[in-house]
Amino acid sequence: MSQPHATNSAIAAVLADEAATLALGAALAPVVTSGLVVYLEGDLGAGKTTLVRGLVRALGDQGPVKSPTYTLVELHAISGLDLYHFDFYRFNQAEEYLDAGLDEYFDGRGVCVAEWPDRAAPYLPPADLRIVLTVRGEGRDVRLDAVSERGRRCLTNFALPAATSSATPPPA
Ligand SMILES: Nc1ncnc2c1ncn2[C@@H]1O[C@H](COP(=O)(O)OP(=O)(O)OP(=O)(O)O)[C@@H](O)[C@H]1O
Ligand SMILES: [Mg+2]
Repeated sequence: MSQPHATNSAIAAVLADEAATLALGAALAPVVTSGLVVYLEGDLGAGKTTLVRGLVRALGDQGPVKSPTYTLVELHAISGLDLYHFDFYRFNQAEEYLDAGLDEYFDGRGVCVAEWPDRAAPYLPPADLRIVLTVRGEGRDVRLDAVSERGRRCLTNFALPAATSSATPPPA
């Protein structure tokens, strides 16, 4: 287990390959709690869906984790915890979030993980955790920021997996 360079609220790491992104998602499984809202940011192909796949599998759902690009939301019902995986990439305007009734999912019970959250702003509830993936050479840089008390509790209990190498978080 590599030691993260972290305050309570920020962690940065290098993900050399897809396996490292899956491992990072899996490492989040023990710390996600009901009601948690996670924004997943980064360019097309940055690895957002891959990270969710690692998380969902580690929570015990071995089924396919499809990108919700067309469905807007995919539900994973896992041992009492509902995980909602959103992708707002195809929104032309943020009002589509309301039109599709997606606000009903943010009832404080499920875990909500959203790709392209900026496309549903200002209607999307605020994040507890922001995860930003950046393509760097053949791999990815990742940064996790806690932006609420719930998010800080989550990161306090989080340990970077061995498959990642930690990095000093740049200023927010
Ligand atoms: N750390 C990594 N290093 C190299 N490739 C990676 C890494 N993590 C994921 N990938 C690869 O990046 C590609 C795109 O991944 P993914 O579909 O998860 O991206 P995304 O951010 O969800 O994209 P989109 O915005 O289109 O939904 C996949 O082929 C995946 O295997
Ligand atoms: Mg995706």
